[in-house]
Amino acid sequence: MIEVPHGFVQGSVTDRIDWTENEFSLMINAPIEPYIAGQFTKLGLLNDSGEWVRRAYSLVNSPHHKAGHQQMEFLFITADEGELSPRLQLLKKGDPVYVAKTPSGFMTLAEIPDNMSDLWLLSTGSAIGPFLSILDELETASRFEEIVLVHAVRTEAELVYQSKIAQMIDRYKGKLRYIPIVSREQCDGILQGRIPDLLLSGVLTETAQVALKEENSFFYICGNPDMVKDTSNALNKLGYSKNLRRKAGNFSSENYW
Ligand SMILES: Cc1cc2nc3c(=O)[nH]c(=O)nc-3n(C[C@H](O)[C@H](O)[C@H](O)COP(=O)(O)OP(=O)(O)OC[C@H]3O[C@@H](n4cnc5c(N)ncnc54)[C@H](O)[C@@H]3O)c2cc1C
Ligand SMILES: NC(=O)c1ccc[n+]([C@@H]2O[C@H](COP(=O)([O-])OP(=O)(O)OC[C@H]3O[C@@H](n4cnc5c(N)ncnc54)[C@H](OP(=O)(O)O)[C@@H]3O)[C@@H](O)[C@H]2O)c1
Repeated sequence: MIEVPHGFVQGSVTDRIDWTENEFSLMINAPIEPYIAGQFTKLGLLNDSGEWVRRAYSLVNSPHHKAGHQQMEFLFITADEGELSPRLQLLKKGDPVYVAKTPSGFMTLAEIPDNMSDLWLLSTGSAIGPFLSILDELETASRFEEIVLVHAVRTEAELVYQSKIAQMIDRYKGKLRYIPIVSREQCDGILQGRIPDLLLSGVLTETAQVALKEENSFFYICGNPDMVKDTSNALNKLGYSKNLRRKAGNFSSENYW
């Protein structure tokens, strides 16, 4: 009999999607507490030595979706020689997985200062997940005038959730732009390069057809910590400052490692 770690509950895998050889989504059902779009929880499994390995993972679906907040969806990239993600990749429908009961995180709509009219969601790899959750919220559509979802990946095959994104673009009726970026392949009609360079050169805004507004553009940056650092520096150069509790600013971020 497995002793579940403190603060964790047992859940089970209800479905999976394999996007590429090392990128996949798991649907997991577990009796967790409600979460807010943009938040993460922890998943845990035992390793070969019988020790718990626990890591943070963002929820991809809206907490208000039809099946309810306890039917969760996560997007994973398997880290080479990682301790947990390769084990998660082996999970099949019906397998148990352990989930931290209380989700957390501050990359939510409530943290964005009230005066922001435009929302830029800048992600690499699996970090598009929390942005899809935020975009699924009705409040996002009603609160902002322009929303730009930027997803930077190494190869075109990693541009996941295309049909979900297409449905969102329809639902947002012109308010939502989706800008995929591929860095290690040349693909027709898709930007090549990295987010900070494309921001500084103006290519990103030109492609999105959304101008940066000094007072009213807000940026969430999520994923690879080097990208987060370089993009923060680029935004500083463009005159923006980090949003702090004691002083409102134009961007906030979440590092995935
Ligand atoms: C708040 C938060 C939310 C997160 N949400 C997600 C998520 O939704 N999906 C997800 O796949 N990961 C997410 N992560 C990363 C996740 O927690 C693990 O770090 C990741 O799965 C690697 O764990 P591991 O035990 O397999 O590798 P480890 O043995 O811990 O090795 C870590 C190494 O793997 C690489 N790495 C870690 N995470 C990623 C990643 N996401 N993409 C590419 N390379 C990576 C880095 O080089 C890192 O040094 C999140 C992290 C944080 C802090
Ligand atoms: N097994 C496999 O076949 C395989 C294949 C790929 C990845 N992996 C694993 O998956 C992980 C990679 O996941 P990932 O694709 O999400 O990786 P990633 O290295 O975070 O790349 C995602 C995107 O972020 C960009 N990026 C990296 N550093 C940046 C910076 N400083 N500023 C701006 N953009 C930056 C990358 O551009 P660049 O391309 O220019 O760096 C790429 O477009 C690796 O850690 C590895 O463990 C495994």
